[in-house]
Amino acid sequence: MKLSTPQKTVANDPARFVVLCTGRRFGKTTLGIRQLFYNARMPDQNVWAVLPSYRMARNVWWDAVKAKAIELNWAKKINEADLSIILKNGSKISLKGADNRDALRGAKLNYIFLDECGDIEKEAYTQVLRPTLSDTGGKAMFAGTPKGISNWLYDIYQKGQDKTEDNWSSYQFTTIQGGFVPEEGQWFIFCSILLSRHTFDCHLRPRGRPRLPSIFSPRFLPSLLPVPLATSAYGYLAHPEPPWADSRFYPYPRYLCDTG
Ligand SMILES: Nc1ncnc2c1ncn2[C@@H]1O[C@H](COP(=O)(O)OP(=O)(O)OP(=O)(O)O)[C@@H](O)[C@H]1O
Ligand SMILES: [Mg+2]
Repeated sequence: MKLSTPQKTVANDPARFVVLCTGRRFGKTTLGIRQLFYNARMPDQNVWAVLPSYRMARNVWWDAVKAKAIELNWAKKINEADLSIILKNGSKISLKGADNRDALRGAKLNYIFLDECGDIEKEAYTQVLRPTLSDTGGKAMFAGTPKGISNWLYDIYQKGQDKTEDNWSSYQFTTIQGGFVPEEGQWFIFCSILLSRHTFDCHLRPRGRPRLPSIFSPRFLPSLLPVPLATSAYGYLAHPEPPWADSRFYPYPRYLCDTG
């Protein structure tokens, strides 16, 4: 599978720590799986993907990682119980859930891809995972869909934007820029954002402005909106410079709308 242009830009970034904030369905997980194999191509590398939970590692990642190892004909031994694959070149690819911190300890790692970082506790990285990269000078990539500004994905995104932080680099792309969601799907994602009070508060409500009275909660909004109004709301979202594209208000101003 060939990477999309934005996926390629991120994959080619030479920084030690790369942060990727995108809308849903951008292609983060697909890029992550590619990164695992790319970093395990050299002999004797220890490469991990860390997901918010073991269940997610098994349900979302494991089949795709196994399929890739088989397709490349790189697998020497596949271990179903601990979600790991030993490659013919001596490298090992493992999937881990951050819900079991003890399972993250003790390793010496060359590369970590953290998916859905917004759902992984900061301390799981800073206290447990970060030290595993120290001996090797290993690299990490942090991917996620932003969930407001009070979380560490936002903090490390800002670090990646800071020109004085040589080791850090960060990117932000919209769902539409990802190129893998057809127009109907974009509608679906837009509606799911309206339905999610949390996401609405984080992305569409200017910071500091009081919450809407509950009757106007976005949870009820779609049923209150006549179709033309909903359509124009979407048009507004996709407008090149909607008011909420103002970065004074929003950490990820171009979160959903493709502003070209
Ligand atoms: N380079 C690519 N070439 C072809 N299809 C791709 C590519 N990258 C991603 N896709 C497809 O796009 C869809 C979304 O990809 P993926 O699951 O990786 O996105 P995601 O950002 O992890 O989504 P989510 O927000 O749901 O976790 C999938 O159907 C995937 O197969
Ligand atoms: Mg994903």
